[in-house]
Amino acid sequence: MTKPIVILGIFVADTAYRAERQPKMGETILGNSFVLGPGGKGSNQSVAAAMASAGNGGKVHFITRLGRDAFADIARATWARAGVVPEVTEDGESYTGAAYIFIEAATGNNAIIVAPGAAGRVSVEDVEAKRALIESASVFVTQLEQPIPAARRALEIARAAGVVTILNPAPAAPLDDAMLALCDFVTPNESEAEALTGLPVTNVAEAEAAADALLAKGVGAVVVTLGGNGALYRDRSRSVHVPVISAGPVVETTGAGDAFNGGFAVALSEGRDVVDAVRFGCATAGISVTRPGTAPAMPARAEIEALLARS
Ligand code: RIB
Ligand code: NA
Repeated sequence: MTKPIVILGIFVADTAYRAERQPKMGETILGNSFVLGPGGKGSNQSVAAAMASAGNGGKVHFITRLGRDAFADIARATWARAGVVPEVTEDGESYTGAAYIFIEAATGNNAIIVAPGAAGRVSVEDVEAKRALIESASVFVTQLEQPIPAARRALEIARAAGVVTILNPAPAAPLDDAMLALCDFVTPNESEAEALTGLPVTNVAEAEAAADALLAKGVGAVVVTLGGNGALYRDRSRSVHVPVISAGPVVETTGAGDAFNGGFAVALSEGRDVVDAVRFGCATAGISVTRPGTAPAMPARAEIEALLARS
């Protein structure tokens, strides 16, 4: 049997407002549109991974906490559609969270406030309860939207069992070297790479320098996602810039990093060469940005294969 991909993180309902600009303090403006949909980095990555592995036998399990409310129903319906196996602690004392997403009409760029709600209470005990599942994985993925002690414990369990570990350090938070040393791969975007290293990251050369600083802290390898500039892969022997893999005009970039991480995890779980896995992740992201929303924008495996075949 194929080993599962196991992801720890949060689900929130994304409330996305498209407008010309953000309001100033004290100001009300009219927006162009509003969409409610499934979000949260860990959930988005799980959906991306499940869709990218569909037909290839791999199962994706998602560990999180939900409240008992209408947003939790959106979560469960989303996972059922994508084929994600929920590993949920129900929390009757909190609510399922939400994200405010401002989308700039002209560019599709975004600014986000996340209120994790119940998923902000994911605990070390929740992780311990899923220990055997984590140990059985091919690849384990987490981010920093749920409490960091839970992420750290899960990375420790995965590392001790020889599971490939990916940390998407989003949103940026200070991390000690011991935590970074538990990671086979760390996948920051430019601003997260800056926050982790204190170095500016605005181009490929600067991304290389930041990646070196992370390697010096004990990370196995680094992928810096560079938005419209693709991604930089760096380990102790190689440095490879993978250009963006475009599938068409950009509609919304929210969740592009999640698409990358989900696709990257699938390709690694299939034993692909790591640079091919970065390309697979970039293709997954390249398709996701041509569609509105985060989880609903994640491509099916056939679409990813088709894009890679023609790029
Ligand atoms: O990475 C995009 C995600 O970040 C959104 O879905 C939003 O919920 C925030 O968690
Ligand atoms: Na999108």
